[in-house]
Amino acid sequence: MRIDIVSIFPAYFDTLEISLLGKAKDRGLLDLRVHDLRDAAHDKHRTVDDTPTGGGAGMVMKPEPWGTMLDEILEAPDSSDDPLIIFPSPAGEVFNQKMARELSGEQQLIFGCGRYEGPDQRIFDEYVERGRLKLVSLGDYVLNGGEVASLAMIEAIARLLPGMVGNPESLVEESHEDGLLEYPSYTKPAVWRGREVPPVLLSGNHAAIAKWRKEQSIERTRRVRPDLLAE
Ligand code: ADE
Repeated sequence: MRIDIVSIFPAYFDTLEISLLGKAKDRGLLDLRVHDLRDAAHDKHRTVDDTPTGGGAGMVMKPEPWGTMLDEILEAPDSSDDPLIIFPSPAGEVFNQKMARELSGEQQLIFGCGRYEGPDQRIFDEYVERGRLKLVSLGDYVLNGGEVASLAMIEAIARLLPGMVGNPESLVEESHEDGLLEYPSYTKPAVWRGREVPPVLLSGNHAAIAKWRKEQSIERTRRVRPDLLAE
């Protein structure tokens, strides 16, 4: 999979070199490219924002640098035919595991990270009309920009790429894959500070263990996220 990221703070994405995603890059599963939006600015001050037309607080990202940068990526000979552009935004569709799974099947994703009040609306209109563009929200709260949201989404998507996780079983059993929260996990020692591992897990009875874990998943989901059970 190829992922392009456009941001005025490319250093945010240095952390993608660490751990799992660094490994994915090294193994050639992920071709990650970070672009500085200011490189596409049209003046010597590398300006990317301006005051809102019609008045109001904050600054709006100018359309020209975004247009130049996105065109450059879309029209590059090594880009895929039909990349999906994602702009993280609290006004977008809410990201979840199902969306992560769908997005992990894309050939190329382009993450556009807005700052301030976000890009001029005409950027969204232009690229929705020309191809595929989605606004995606991490949840019902407001971040300062799209960088942290992009990092979270990229981690959730990239770990689903085939060959990324050593034991694919661990993906099947984790929270949200079956619409439930994951059951609690234990390791050795069997007793720690007087707290015992649930005896069924030491029984060697795999059917009983599977049944206990399922019950724990359902009980935890009912307690913490009843909205998921309703779905
Ligand atoms: N940018 C600012 N807030 C955001 C959110 N909640 N999700 C995604 N992008 C954002």
